[in-house]
Amino acid sequence: MKKRMKKIISLGVATVMMLSLVACSSSGSGGADKKEDKTTTEKTESGTGKVGVAMPTKDLQRWNQDGENMKKQLEDAGYEVDLQYASNDPATQVSQIENMISGSCKLLVIASIDGDSLGTPLATAEEENIPVISYDRLIMNSSAIKYYATFDNYLVGQKQGEYIVDKLDLENAAGPFNMEIFTGDPGDNNVNFFYGGAMDVLQPYIDSGKLVVQSGQVKKEEVATADWSTEKAQARMDAILSSNYADKKLDVVLCSNDSTALGVTNSLEANYTGEWPIITGQDCDKPNVKNMIAGKQSMSVFKDTRKLAEQTVKMVDAIMDGGEAETNDDKSYDNGTGVIPTYLCDPTVVTLDNYKEMLIDSGYYTEADIK
Ligand code: BGC
Repeated sequence: MKKRMKKIISLGVATVMMLSLVACSSSGSGGADKKEDKTTTEKTESGTGKVGVAMPTKDLQRWNQDGENMKKQLEDAGYEVDLQYASNDPATQVSQIENMISGSCKLLVIASIDGDSLGTPLATAEEENIPVISYDRLIMNSSAIKYYATFDNYLVGQKQGEYIVDKLDLENAAGPFNMEIFTGDPGDNNVNFFYGGAMDVLQPYIDSGKLVVQSGQVKKEEVATADWSTEKAQARMDAILSSNYADKKLDVVLCSNDSTALGVTNSLEANYTGEWPIITGQDCDKPNVKNMIAGKQSMSVFKDTRKLAEQTVKMVDAIMDGGEAETNDDKSYDNGTGVIPTYLCDPTVVTLDNYKEMLIDSGYYTEADIK
């Protein structure tokens, strides 16, 4: 993993440059706009057949948005859509994918629950020449995966780490500051990037003693949260607070996403009376944006699921046309069977300063959604 992270860091600059050239949004340079117009025309002509879309769960807000965006955009492009949610149960997802294959889907878009558990249905898909796009999370060890569409998830972690460095002024302040760490489900390959990106920024400060993790829980396995569950994050935070923070100040909690940040916040509200810590997150889920406005969460990372869907639908079109899809990273994402050509969308840090512009003005939420 370390090697891979290094590779990704060295690719970081190139990726940023490419992203600014091939912006994930429709507002880009003249060149990017032209390309999009052309794809739009082809889309209407080529959109035929059924596409299976497998999403992990309805329990977390973002997958509902991902699923709805994918369904709408694929249908607008002319495809029939079989959209399924698997209640975070890998066995359910396996049988849903089997049904998509037997139900004549021509292509599958899969956001996996456990990136290692889909070997059998994906082998069938490959035998039947049904291409698979790995959506948001990389599916490991399957040569059925033709493309990967996601956000730059290493950058998500890095931005969370940099936010903490900035807010605590770790370069100049004497410290030490107390920090706790929460990441996500160990079966989700993205966790390696969120945790890796943040820890590459923060580990030097832990090593120098400026950041102190009083619980002693630092390793990925120790700070993982099964199913990205809010309740499990809350229970772990309860235990950490009662064993370590009865008479200590907690300065910061690195949370990889909003569902874990919500659990941490709930626990702090019930058990902690000290000065409120910095809390990071990701996704800009509605309860977390509300918490941000109420001063209970410091930041989140916005991943515009409309844009990821848009990019994925372009991939679907290109594959259906028998052509090659647009990608912007053909080096970093090896799923164990080789490098998977990838399109990375750009994540954005959201705070009190820019949430209106990013979330309301862009039409992602209405004012009422986050009141
Ligand atoms: C996604 C995050 C999300 C998490 C939990 C990850 O794979 O990239 O956006 O917060 O899963 O659903």
